[in-house]
Parts: sequence; C-alpha cells; structure tokens
Amino acid sequence: MESDILLEADHIRKTFPSKEGQLHVLDDISLKLYRKEFVCIIGPSGSGKSTLVRILGGLLEPTAGKLIYPSGREPDPRAIVFQNSNLLPWLRTAENVALPLLIHGASRKDALAEAKRWLDIIGLQDFADEWPNNLSGGMAQRVAIARALIQKPELLLMDEPLGSLDAMTREQISLELMSFREQIDATVLMVTHSISEAILLADRILIYSGRPARIQEEIKVPFPRPRQPELRDAIEFNAMSRLLRKKLMIQGQAF
Ligand SMILES: Nc1ncnc2c1ncn2[C@@H]1O[C@H](COP(=O)(O)OP(=O)(O)OP(=O)(O)O)[C@@H](O)[C@H]1O
Ligand SMILES: [Mg+2]
Repeated sequence: MESDILLEADHIRKTFPSKEGQLHVLDDISLKLYRKEFVCIIGPSGSGKSTLVRILGGLLEPTAGKLIYPSGREPDPRAIVFQNSNLLPWLRTAENVALPLLIHGASRKDALAEAKRWLDIIGLQDFADEWPNNLSGGMAQRVAIARALIQKPELLLMDEPLGSLDAMTREQISLELMSFREQIDATVLMVTHSISEAILLADRILIYSGRPARIQEEIKVPFPRPRQPELRDAIEFNAMSRLLRKKLMIQGQAF
C-alpha cells in the first residue's frame, strides 16, 4: 500500500566534481522503504553506499532525482549510525547517549534516566560514567546505536555500523540488533558487507552494483520474525547465504 511507504528514492543520481571531471557515483537509484521494515544494502567498496545513506538521511543533496515522502512529511527524526561511533570524548557514556534528548530540550535528569535505561538494554549499565576513550570498539558502537535508538527514530540509517569490529563482537552485536529489532518501531536501512548479518536482520536485501551504482537485485528474506539465533544453523539459512554469495560473485564481488 502506498500509505505504508515511509520514503521513496526516485531516480537518484549523484556526481562529485573530481580532478578528471565528474565522478559519477550513483547512477539511477530508485527504492521504496516501507514502514517498520528492515532493509540491508550489500555492495562493493567505493560504490557509493555511504553517499546514498547521506542522501536518504538528508545530509547531502542528490544531483538529480528526488526523495518522496508519500505521507506528505519527512521521517522525524532520522537517526544515522556511522561506521565509527563518533562519540564525543568530552562527554561521559550516558551523556553521549542522552545528547539527542538534551538537544531537543529534555531536562538533564529525564535525559540521563532514559540514557541509563538504554545502557541497561545494551548491557553497558556499568559504564554510564565512563569516558568514551575507555570503551572498546564494540562497546562504543553499541553506545552509538543506543544514542540513535533513544531518539525513537522513524527512520534509522546504519552505515556499516559493525564494520570496524572483530568477527566475534560483530556477531554478538548483530544478535543483539536482532532482538532490538522487535522492540523498535523504526524503518531501518543498514549497509553491511556481511551476508549472514543481512539474512539474520533484513526483510529485504538490496544488492548494489559497482560504481556508478544501481540496485541490481532485490531479495526478500522469507524467514518469519521474531528470528532466533538458531536460524543461522538452519539448512534454509545456509542455502540463502549460498545464493547471495553466488549473486555477489557473479558481479565480481568477493565474499
Ligand atoms: N564529498 C565528496 N566529494 C568527492 N568525492 C566523494 C565525496 N564523497 C564520496 N566521494 C567519492 O564517491 C565514491 C563513493 O564513496 P562512498 O563513500 O559513498 O562509497 P561506499 O560504497 O560507502 O564505500 P565503502 O564500502 O568503502 O564505505 C568514492 O569514490 C568517494 O571517493
Ligand atoms: Mg561507506
């Protein structure tokens, strides 16, 4: 249904000026994001995934094409989680999480109470008063995710949020994301390089071509939600991983 569409990207193109003239990054990207769905984008390095995230997040203007909001208003708020946590080093962990609420005028007491609730959810309740520099990469990234979720975003954009983490931490946080996923109302678009992360989390996976980028294929993930970690051991999960790997290999993407 049209009214279920939160945001539509309509023939988006993006070029950047470069020494050799124009760098053509996004060729012709059209996509629809339905309310409350979780979409993953997988694509080669340097193909413009971050550029697309920044356009969808309203941080960057497309060169051509437009964003359409069928409900007549922009998603509010939109939160973005980047590959690096970008925590403010001069604020303690709980203050970092509370910051979006403080910016929007919440009292310090209420904002910190809500931040502590989120720190509980992500298992970092004991680190509320810690400085970000004393957190591990995985902890910092969890904090960045909590800082996004505390805003109750209508649209949550995540650009390889787990990309800088070691494999074990990454797997653990993706399982945590899987359980948050049922608790949040946001529409989520996540860029990832991990096939298993995408299958575990997404309702749909968009395969993105090399530069200039287009969306090559859309794959629906048929597994019912809520999903359990054991899904990763299922024959159907492995079959889907193989299928995706094959599609990405056909495009020359190594996985
Ligand atoms: N502001 C900018 N000015 C000029 N060129 C840019 C700008 N932002 C991105 N680019 C170029 O656009 C291309 C796509 O960059 P982008 O970061 O969107 O790719 P990506 O798919 O996110 O890559 P990665 O997988 O490495 O994160 C790159 O060649 C990059 O150098
Ligand atoms: Mg990127």
